Amino acid sequence: NKVSDSIYRFPLAEVRGVPLRNWIAQNWSAVSAFRPDPSDLLISTYPKAGTTWVQEIVDLLLHNGDAEICKRAPTAARIPFLEIHYPPPIPSGLDLLKTLKPPRVIKTHLPIQLVPEGFWENKCKVIYVARNAKDNVVSYYHFDQMNLIHPETGTWEEYVQKFMAGKLAWGSWYDHVKGYWKEREMRNILYIFFEDMKENPRQEIVKIMRYLDLSVSDDIIDKIVKLTSFEVMKDNPMANYSSVPTIIFDQSISPFMRKGEVGDWTNYFTPAQTQIFDEDYARKMADVNIPFRTSI
Ligand code: A3P
Repeated sequence: NKVSDSIYRFPLAEVRGVPLRNWIAQNWSAVSAFRPDPSDLLISTYPKAGTTWVQEIVDLLLHNGDAEICKRAPTAARIPFLEIHYPPPIPSGLDLLKTLKPPRVIKTHLPIQLVPEGFWENKCKVIYVARNAKDNVVSYYHFDQMNLIHPETGTWEEYVQKFMAGKLAWGSWYDHVKGYWKEREMRNILYIFFEDMKENPRQEIVKIMRYLDLSVSDDIIDKIVKLTSFEVMKDNPMANYSSVPTIIFDQSISPFMRKGEVGDWTNYFTPAQTQIFDEDYARKMADVNIPFRTSI
């Protein structure tokens, strides 16, 4: 009964209509009952929207830019992934959260309607990061190839169809970005964009700093801009997921820190795919005006 025997491309299972990895669905009641502390901070994203990047920025801001402290453990141990469950004995997100004292930073990919009620009851701060749909699906396609516990991708064409139909793990990108957008004011959510972080990282880091009621000196902000650049994070073993065993993440298929760019979608979408995707997008996003950019 080696751990490796229990690792495979798990099927998805729905929770209130949202497809999640089956291990998460099976442990759903424990996730849903989680009670955060009012001081806990939630970082929420649709998968591949820049989660790890913002996690690193937040950890550095909370530690006044101290690079060594922020290398105390891999991202997933510093900022646990709320809903994640694996076959035992791999610790779940909830197991890791028990090892930390509030104020904690917590990661989730849950759409807003599945976020445990305790976060709203306790008025926790929430940072939401969104990335334009086309770059998001390209990044997810590569990730699902190397993530050996997610379903097979199929061809690129099949994958885009699944994305549009909301059939990938964590469900519909469209519903995800809209759900947080519509409630951002009522729930005091800081809603930021991958493209803005790429174009002007300093400005977005300052936004996050202010939202967290921190005051970090200009020099330290400059240092955090450098420490959270794609190149530096790609080489940081505590931020690049190289500590995850290759039976789960096979980074020889595609590195976790893959390209980190805006506009890589142009290398994958055919003109016909772009047209179909854009028409479908216009229909699905007609009820909101979220300022997504597919180039900078
Ligand atoms: P690509 O696959 O387009 O390269 P997440 O952390 O939500 O899983 O998102 C991963 C995506 O964010 C990957 O996108 C990854 O390269 C990118 N990323 C991570 N850190 C980054 C950084 N510091 N700068 C730019 N992109 C980054």
